[in-house]
Amino acid sequence: MAQENAVLPDALCWHEFSWDGPECQSFPGTVHMDKSLRSEGYSTFSVIISPGETSKTVATISHLWGEFLAPGMERRSTVVALGGGVVGDLAGFAAATYMRGIPWVNVPTSLVAMADASLGGKTGADLPQGKNLVGAFHAPKMVLTDPSTLRTLPRAEMVSGIAEVIKAGIIGDPELYKACTQGWERIEADWDEIIPRAMSVKIEIIEADPFEEGIRAVLNLGHTIGHAVERLSNYQLRHGEAVAIGMVAEARLAEKIGIAQHGLANEIKDACTRLGLPAEVPAEMNLEEIQEMIKVDKKRSSAKVKYALPVRIGEVRPGYEVSDIEAILNGGFDMSIILVLHGPNLNLLGQREPEVYGNLTLDELDSRLKEASEQLGLEVRTFQSNGEGALIDALHEAQEWASGVVFNPGGYTHTSVALRDAVASIGLPVIEVHLSHVDAREDFRRRSLISPVCVGKISGFGWRSYLLALRELAWQIKGEV
Ligand SMILES: NC(=O)c1ccc[n+]([C@@H]2O[C@H](COP(=O)([O-])OP(=O)(O)OC[C@H]3O[C@@H](n4cnc5c(N)ncnc54)[C@H](O)[C@@H]3O)[C@@H](O)[C@H]2O)c1
Repeated sequence: MAQENAVLPDALCWHEFSWDGPECQSFPGTVHMDKSLRSEGYSTFSVIISPGETSKTVATISHLWGEFLAPGMERRSTVVALGGGVVGDLAGFAAATYMRGIPWVNVPTSLVAMADASLGGKTGADLPQGKNLVGAFHAPKMVLTDPSTLRTLPRAEMVSGIAEVIKAGIIGDPELYKACTQGWERIEADWDEIIPRAMSVKIEIIEADPFEEGIRAVLNLGHTIGHAVERLSNYQLRHGEAVAIGMVAEARLAEKIGIAQHGLANEIKDACTRLGLPAEVPAEMNLEEIQEMIKVDKKRSSAKVKYALPVRIGEVRPGYEVSDIEAILNGGFDMSIILVLHGPNLNLLGQREPEVYGNLTLDELDSRLKEASEQLGLEVRTFQSNGEGALIDALHEAQEWASGVVFNPGGYTHTSVALRDAVASIGLPVIEVHLSHVDAREDFRRRSLISPVCVGKISGFGWRSYLLALRELAWQIKGEV
């Protein structure tokens, strides 16, 4: 016996048909769907909702329940969602709650819905207080994706959707990410590869953690800041646009706390902007309001805000608490990291010849530098070793993440060809520093093998030699002090 099945599209327009009225029968996507379902012996009817996030309300859900009841849908009936993420979320939630849950099938037609929203069984609606505040986990029986439906997707929606594809690449598929960096031509030539790859990243994660108890949180990459920005724009920013802004900001956070190499945020920013996505918080948006909005979400979940942060392309880790994000929300901010490298005997600072080297211990010196570096918009990482090899290794490794080096080579200044070669080869601006006024001391201290390959040398100002060097690097790297 035929069952009543609801086909639930929104007002998408297929160019080979014309939209000529509110009657569901004239809706082109539905016509196809109806025809094929009816030819298989199903009886169907359609409900059309207005397009856009503003429809994703409890009022629409309630309207859908009424529409399901009228023709007599019962527990064996099926809901088919034909449309973007809004339709999928609504249809899934209406199906989850109608008669304590009926099956549904998702037929995503937008890129966001194909690459992301159709997978994972999250359904729901927005409340005036925020997005997705009511909902249920209710997985569709089937997801049917046909990339050819993207032919009619407006360009802006396509651009928005590609953010979720980039996100999938960052989370778990460097090849997919690379394809995204190659521009629209490459992407659009190969939807049949791109979409399944993006889907696979999410499927692997949701299979491992269906109810978001752990690793699934990596899918929130870009969303903690993105959701706040999306809401503060009054949804003028599309979801994917906000996620792109969030991904870049959160990559900066990852750099700031030292889990990602310097340059990752700019790399992601380039990938996003190349495809037409915004990557910086809009200038008119108030940074404090963004932080407040993130905190409101935190209160709502009665937990601390935890970010999923990228470590590199292909790896995202969940669970990072970061308190101060104002600096990274400011687009002008570039978290440059400086290596402050202390050579032999500097571990004895404070006790070794204080009349020459001062009373500060190495820890005190480092903490003064860290304090000062924040004002300069720099992050300082410090390292001390008495060994030539360890100092050389530190210089080599700094190539991966530092924008410059402040180096006190200690006694190696006068003897180490190997350290000179390391400084010359790393391609970073290095400033040689000394606490004491070396040119006013013994002859042998006036000779430096290192300084000819440095951008400059500062000596004689105690711990402030380091500070002067940091200021100079800030000026060299950022063009400001
Ligand atoms: N459930 C989840 O896990 C999940 C994940 C990500 C996003 N979402 C939700 O998805 C929604 C965003 O999805 P979206 O970007 O698809 O928005 P959307 O559903 O509003 O669709 C965007 C626009 O594209 C139109 N459209 C869709 N397919 C079309 C096609 N083939 N041709 C022409 N027009 C077409 C729609 O009518 C709409 O105007 C948000 O509500 C978001 O919260 C849910």
